[in-house]
Amino acid sequence: MKLTVTIAGVELKNPIMTASGTFGSGRDFEPYTDLNKIGCVVVKGVASREWAGNPPPRIVETYGGMINAIGLQNPGIDVFCKEDIPFLRQFDTKIGVNISGKTIDEYVEVAERLASEDVDLLELNISCPNVKEGGVAFGVDPFMAALVTGAVKKVARQPLIVKLSPNVTDITTIAKAVEDGGADAVSLINTLIGSRIDIHKQKFILSTRQGGLSGPAIKPVAIRMVYEVANAVNLPVIGMGGIMSGEDAVEFMMAGANAIAVGTANLLDPAATMNILAELETFMRNKQIEDVNDIVGVVNKAAISP
Ligand SMILES: Cc1cc2nc3c(=O)[nH]c(=O)nc-3n(C[C@H](O)[C@H](O)[C@H](O)COP(=O)(O)O)c2cc1C
Repeated sequence: MKLTVTIAGVELKNPIMTASGTFGSGRDFEPYTDLNKIGCVVVKGVASREWAGNPPPRIVETYGGMINAIGLQNPGIDVFCKEDIPFLRQFDTKIGVNISGKTIDEYVEVAERLASEDVDLLELNISCPNVKEGGVAFGVDPFMAALVTGAVKKVARQPLIVKLSPNVTDITTIAKAVEDGGADAVSLINTLIGSRIDIHKQKFILSTRQGGLSGPAIKPVAIRMVYEVANAVNLPVIGMGGIMSGEDAVEFMMAGANAIAVGTANLLDPAATMNILAELETFMRNKQIEDVNDIVGVVNKAAISP
């Protein structure tokens, strides 16, 4: 059975990745998960300097998921390079670094710093606010999305994945913009903006009022967007959003994802990636699928010959 997939020239031993921010840099998961079995560990977003994140409460549960407002808390690129890269390099897995920034210069600084580091893929989180331009997230404006992608691509030494925000009217417009800007792959979806109110206290539960909704509740939106993007651009697609099982992973790949990422599921079960891999293998065995790449985008073929 063939499980290897290739994302922008980087071969992963299987299509299972971790979704940024839900797996730290793997250290806390290592007692429960064999990191050698994960196709690629994508780490928590890292910025040019330490970010404190938002004050609590910054996580709340909801039906089929959770809303977080962590605020991209991270220790900064220097600590990451010193501590996390050597830790992850002990394992036979690829390393993907998720990059946060408030300005184009900050994104560029992190990519430049990583140019000489032993990591395999960069993932640009363009859902961060663009402070210089008045607080608009780069990911909701095609012009800004292409601009930041192009600027980072110029200095990047590793293939560049751009992570798309679902909080837009037409995600294909942003996907095409980052393709034009030089992205080597796209990943989607990031969290959907959501909110909850404490009806007894009559106030918002999260300190920031709003946060990012993740988990199974967002899966149908993610499937629809992966399908749309896979058919709009000529780039590898990494699908995520509510993947809890191997069958969920299959669904994303059938929609057009070349690889998938496990997010919120890690917070419920630290062995989620392992279980999802085993379930994917069982599905392939039962359906006599020899190569996992054969299921990518099959819904398109089904549409042509019903
Ligand atoms: C607690 C938490 C922290 C996250 N931090 C990041 C982050 O640093 N960078 C990023 O690009 N996405 C971040 N995300 C978004 C996830 O990587 C993923 O895109 C999203 O949660 C959808 O997948 P899921 O439903 O499987 O969790 C975070 C999500 C959660 C729940």
